[in-house]
Amino acid sequence: MLTGLRGVDLGVRDVAAQARFYTEVWRLSIVAERNGSVYLRGSGAHHHILALHPRAEPALLCVNLAAADRAAVDQLHARVSAAGAPQVDRPAAIGEPGGGYGFAFLDPEGRAVRVIAEDARHADARSEPDRPLKITHAVLNTPRQEEAAAFWVRALGFQVSDRSLLTFIRCNADHHNLAFHPGERSTLHHLAFEMDSIDSVMRGAGRMRDAGHAIEWGLGRHGPGNNVFAYFIGPDNFVIEYTAEIEQVDDSYRVREPREWAYPPGHSDLWGATPPPSERMKSAQQQISFATGLFRP
Ligand SMILES: [Fe+2]
Repeated sequence: MLTGLRGVDLGVRDVAAQARFYTEVWRLSIVAERNGSVYLRGSGAHHHILALHPRAEPALLCVNLAAADRAAVDQLHARVSAAGAPQVDRPAAIGEPGGGYGFAFLDPEGRAVRVIAEDARHADARSEPDRPLKITHAVLNTPRQEEAAAFWVRALGFQVSDRSLLTFIRCNADHHNLAFHPGERSTLHHLAFEMDSIDSVMRGAGRMRDAGHAIEWGLGRHGPGNNVFAYFIGPDNFVIEYTAEIEQVDDSYRVREPREWAYPPGHSDLWGATPPPSERMKSAQQQISFATGLFRP
């Protein structure tokens, strides 16, 4: 019933500065501006994948999931309500750029989530060098990762793909659309933007270096998902990843356990060429909280 991660709403201190960064360096495009918020698309079909809203403190305001159609929204609404989400809005028309039909809810740890269908799509969607196609996954910190994953499985129909240090879950053929990482609080670990090739990841890493954002981890290739990665600290200390070649899986995929994903000593990925994640990045990966309450644009 879900087709993937549509994107995220972020609260940022300086919308104009971040919009400049996400267009000129990160290579998204602005599709709409309203009430001080800026909506950005990738080269894929989603109307927007990233929305920047003015806030006093940086925050993850909402995780947006794409549903197949209106019937899927209604079915998921019933399922989320039955699964014991602490707060669930009724499905309704969405009054923000891109529109659509959907509902908002809080998951058991208070994360604001929306399920959206029938929003505007771009007819010119295509994979393009040097432009992110979509947000392919978000990784979230949690003190209770198995319980968190179990709720998303029960309430939304996600499937567990793998368990390493993280628990990876998916709702489409991408190996993961979300993953839960151990943490003391429910915070954002990072957001991953899909590029069309390793070359585009590398050229993106070059643009980021030129713009003053060092590579904090990478270039490397993850075990679970087999994707190539480069991690950076973006504006307001949001940790963002360029990635490519995410493994495509189906129901025959075998869920592996943490011991099966252990790397040799001193390695933090499959290649063994990158230094480990920087301490700066690991600290940034604990700092972005979810806003409290449902997100209502
Ligand atoms: Fe990632």
